[in-house]
Amino acid sequence: MPIHTIIEPFRIKSVEPIRWTQRAERERFLREASYNLFLLSADDVLIDLLTDSGTGAMSIYQWGAIQEGDESYAGSRSFIRFRDSVQSIFGYTNVIPTHQGRAAERILFTVMLKKGDIVPNNTHFDTTRANVEAVGAEAVDLVIAEGRQPGLLHPFKGNMDVAALEQTIARVGRERIPLVMLTITNNSGGGQPVSMENARAVSAVCRKHNIPLYFDACRFAENSYFIKLREQGYQDKTPRQIAQEMFSLGDGCTMSAKKDGMANIGGFLCTNNDVLAQQQKNLLILTEGYPTYGGLAGRDLEAIAVGLQEAVEEDYLRYRIASTAYLGNHLHQMGIPIVMPPGGHAVYLDARSFVPHILSERFPGVALAAELYLEGGIRSVEIGTLMFGAAAKMDLVRLAIPRRTYTQSHIDYVIEVVAEVWGKRDQIRGLRLTYEPPFLRHFTAKLEQV
Ligand code: F0G
Repeated sequence: MPIHTIIEPFRIKSVEPIRWTQRAERERFLREASYNLFLLSADDVLIDLLTDSGTGAMSIYQWGAIQEGDESYAGSRSFIRFRDSVQSIFGYTNVIPTHQGRAAERILFTVMLKKGDIVPNNTHFDTTRANVEAVGAEAVDLVIAEGRQPGLLHPFKGNMDVAALEQTIARVGRERIPLVMLTITNNSGGGQPVSMENARAVSAVCRKHNIPLYFDACRFAENSYFIKLREQGYQDKTPRQIAQEMFSLGDGCTMSAKKDGMANIGGFLCTNNDVLAQQQKNLLILTEGYPTYGGLAGRDLEAIAVGLQEAVEEDYLRYRIASTAYLGNHLHQMGIPIVMPPGGHAVYLDARSFVPHILSERFPGVALAAELYLEGGIRSVEIGTLMFGAAAKMDLVRLAIPRRTYTQSHIDYVIEVVAEVWGKRDQIRGLRLTYEPPFLRHFTAKLEQV
């Protein structure tokens, strides 16, 4: 019989213990955290699927490179390695390090946008939307209709609706659209990929109207592997070649190295426009740091330089995509409503179908996430009405899988806990806000049971 089990392509060299708690304790922790899982102490969480951002395990090669970090203020050797590594995949002429993705967003939008402008994207992530809005511009989500229906199967649910992009440009005028963005993969829409064909079509529209196209590239390696698996003509290409081709369609990118950079911190901003790059660097110096470190230590730059190359390795990506699908497919087979097909970095429970008796304004996703914590000490995150307010098209609970961190038995445990909660879904109660901050409210909001 052919051997087909896809295994973790690593062995574990260093471990971090995790801590069991009793249900009665978790009830208290949850009340003290006002039903907002961001407000828990991480030590009170057993399996932490809050995010895949900065929470992965680094390789021996990354730890080795960290020892070689050059902490020179200017012209650091680590910056050169970082820049060369980024350019070998992304190909853009200017590479500006930042402390994480949102810093790259803030700098990009501060330089390029003004009040009244519009930024089309397949779907803005929370920080991206907030940074667009912070400069008085409007963030418009143009994902294809299939991308808004959780149960519907489509190989590239992250695709942008190209006709809607054309219509938006015609409606508001090219002068009000300083850039278009494509988020690969589409995090807020279920970790779903964008096809090369779609990126090519979006790029063609942008070129026709002379609008720069920027990628929100956080999970570009996972997106590349989906293209290899699902798009005709890419089976024999490497994820690196696919990524290179995709980035060649754009003019730059923002990147959080905490995702497919395989690092615990870091990000960067790329552009082929030298004039913009100069303005961006001036802003960088004001708030992040000198352009050869951008708020990062030299050792962080080293970790990213190595991590980016590991993220495009096929053995890694095969395991990564298969292990997320393992979780998603098991839940799906039990009839539990999830965004189908499973995403690259996460599985998203469809809370509106899971707890249909809870209205959107009673935060079904937050209520479900709280129940998963009570049942099994699992921390997840709502991506829905608490995060996006009325702009939310879906109420999802994301189970994000940190890279190279949990084993299959951890995931088997997660499957059992979700199944248990599914069995008692009728008893889950809605929530109401008792405190809400003026923006990015999901991070610090407080709630109580209705
Ligand atoms: N863009 C996308 C698509 C993201 O998923 C994130 C972060 C960012 C930008 C911002 O990057 O955190 O380095 O500032 N997403 C994390 C998450 C926080 O949990 O999905 P950052």
